[in-house]
Amino acid sequence: MFRTHTCGELRISDANKQVTLSGWVQRTRKMGGMTFVDLRDRYGITQLVFNEETDATLCEQANKLGREYVIQVTGTVNERYNKNKNIPTGDIEIIVTYLQVLNASEVPPFTIEDQTDGGDDIRMKYRYLDLRRSSVRANLELRHKMTIEIRSYLDKLGFLEVETPVLIGSTPEGARDFVVPSRMNPGQFYALPQSSQTLKQLLMVSGFDRYFQIVKCFRDEDLRADRQPEFTQIDCEMSFVDQEDVLNVFEGMSKHLFRSIKGIDIEEPFQRITWHDAMKYYGSDKPDMRFDMRLVELMDILKGHGFPVFDQAAYVGGICAEGAATYTRKQLDALTDFVKRPQIGAKGMVYARVETDGTVKSSVDKFYSQEVLQQMKEAFGAKPGDLILILSGDDVMKTRKQLNELRLEVASQLGLRDKDKFVCLWVVDFPLFEWDEENNRYVAMHHPFTSPKPEDIGLLDTDPGAVRANAYDMVINGVEVGGGSIRIYDSELQHKMFRLLGFTPERAQEQFGFLMNAFRYGAPPHGGLAYGLDRFVSLFAGLDSIRDCIAFPKNNSGRDVMLDAPSWIEPAQLEELHLRLEEIKE
Ligand code: AMO
Repeated sequence: MFRTHTCGELRISDANKQVTLSGWVQRTRKMGGMTFVDLRDRYGITQLVFNEETDATLCEQANKLGREYVIQVTGTVNERYNKNKNIPTGDIEIIVTYLQVLNASEVPPFTIEDQTDGGDDIRMKYRYLDLRRSSVRANLELRHKMTIEIRSYLDKLGFLEVETPVLIGSTPEGARDFVVPSRMNPGQFYALPQSSQTLKQLLMVSGFDRYFQIVKCFRDEDLRADRQPEFTQIDCEMSFVDQEDVLNVFEGMSKHLFRSIKGIDIEEPFQRITWHDAMKYYGSDKPDMRFDMRLVELMDILKGHGFPVFDQAAYVGGICAEGAATYTRKQLDALTDFVKRPQIGAKGMVYARVETDGTVKSSVDKFYSQEVLQQMKEAFGAKPGDLILILSGDDVMKTRKQLNELRLEVASQLGLRDKDKFVCLWVVDFPLFEWDEENNRYVAMHHPFTSPKPEDIGLLDTDPGAVRANAYDMVINGVEVGGGSIRIYDSELQHKMFRLLGFTPERAQEQFGFLMNAFRYGAPPHGGLAYGLDRFVSLFAGLDSIRDCIAFPKNNSGRDVMLDAPSWIEPAQLEELHLRLEEIKE
């Protein structure tokens, strides 16, 4: 038997027991005639003691143990003289009488402790060692617990987990497909699913009524902290539901997760905001509602006073940071540099402080009378000690988005984005289409299967840009954790959608004929949603990047540096797949 207990299990009540443990050597300390070893496994760390006086040979053996050796020990549980309050096993130690090295280890490339000396690249290359660190392991344990709770919640509500295929045709979710060449069908390719969207809709046509799947999705898109090329969705679909039914079920699921995993009771219904208002008041379709700091439009107040930058702008607006009038010139310059970074793209920033006597002092005082500045103060409801920050631009949406970046940055600086506070929000009434400048045409904002609001259907022919969709996103602390919609289930309307999206009838038939055909055989009204599991877990764990809750993630160039994938394949394999490579310029 390799072990009687794990390294996280023994307590003071086990004192004097004879036990056998197996695990990895975290570190060894020699103090006088004693050698102490921290033995680690998935469950914790237990201190081992070797005493030169009682067994010199054994102690000598222990002194030779290197970091990450795999060992087995037998000994007696003993109450510790110096107790360690930081670990659950900290009251005891094992006085070792038998030691066997099960496997030696080379010196690991970084220290396997919570505060490691390993940089990102090296930890990803040796991810199997990184995963030994308890902080990383805890994220995967949390992920496991969340998936168990999700399955149990959905199972109780009658959802059936059904697996859908991974080798399929294209599913339009707005990103590029990863494709897989077919050996048996020369020149043809499978696409890996960007989501199981069409298949889950077919399951509704099949009468499954309530479907879910915790499923891998693949999207070839530019990577960010909250995006991976392969990620996991909690994908759900329901029949005979309207938007309210779907929102209720998934609001319930989120509340269940907060309660069961974080011990947080979210009693109230989630806040709701229309997409239009989210953009107007927060400059984002995923506003962080842990704090207010709304965008206030100032065109009426600040235009027409001779300040050319504002006079020529299509949008002038700002935010009011409570109590931030103490910001120094240096801090304000740093904020100006922040909004001028190419990723944000503002031309400059104007600021105004509300002084203790209520007067307003701004960086553009020479253009504005105190009376106008007071009107601006009123528009924000600003108080003495507050700081007003203003941006302008010739594109309304772009400037609002820049203000959102500024809003988030200032809130971070003011400590308003507490990772232990959670505010949940539904963003509803998304536009059905958005205009694609590059290709000069409409594209679906969610995907082409999303139903327009019945009252807006008339606008499809006259003003498609104004049509609102029965689509919704769940946003928590500024993170889009999920999104979905009520679907079109009428083949005529679906045909029309494809037409508006620029599909010829032939192409629509070729790509989505299976769905349109299915709709001819009695499709029920249906709708659903998909959560991003990685984002949900990261949010619960307070992580900055979803990579940290994925066992083997890809880096920012989409590479798995451990497996060295993607990689070249042999010419014979290419030939078998009927592929020929163009010369690649490195
Ligand atoms: P959507 O494209 O909004 O909807 O995706 C649903 C959720 O998946 C997560 N997500 C991602 N997570 C990590 N990396 C990515 N690259 C990535 N892309 C998306 C987000 C997002 O909210 N079929 C629809 C759902 C539906 O209509 O039912 C869909 O896939 O958290």
